[in-house]
Amino acid sequence: MEKLNFTSEVMVFESRFELPKEIEELLVMASEAAKNAYSPYSHFKVGAAILLNNGVIITGNNQENAAYPSGLCAERTAAFYASSQYPDVPFSRIAISSHSALKQTTEPVTPCGGCRQALIEFEQKFNQKIEIILSGDVGKVYIFKSVADLLPFSFHSGYLPK
Ligand code: THU
Repeated sequence: MEKLNFTSEVMVFESRFELPKEIEELLVMASEAAKNAYSPYSHFKVGAAILLNNGVIITGNNQENAAYPSGLCAERTAAFYASSQYPDVPFSRIAISSHSALKQTTEPVTPCGGCRQALIEFEQKFNQKIEIILSGDVGKVYIFKSVADLLPFSFHSGYLPK
């Protein structure tokens, strides 16, 4: 028997105001995108802003549905739109901002498992790490340097027989 240890790293900033300017700006775009979320069921609004290698920024937000599982998270809405418009351009970073109509969010929300899997596919496709910036309304901001820090042992295309 062998025991393997894996480590993840996250940078924790005390607030948005400590962030480098270009990251803070991307986070503002994510917060703005969250305002257009369609979330009549959860009242939870998430916005995502993806910076592509060519400088283009794509935003998205969560889209819910009365048939609950038919909805989609902000991260995947943005990532799939980015990929549909710029299929050959790697993602450089994604800012994710989460808000609730019911109470102020004071800590970052981390992406769900499905979104981690969707995002890591783009990291693997382009062989380029995607930086993930996470924030609530107020409070600490987390920055992960790679989706792999959030999803060790991801499923990937290499498992599929050719
Ligand atoms: N949601 C996201 O958009 N991103 C996340 O990272 C977590 C959850 C959405 C899905 C649903 O519309 C609402 O938040 C409540 O789960």
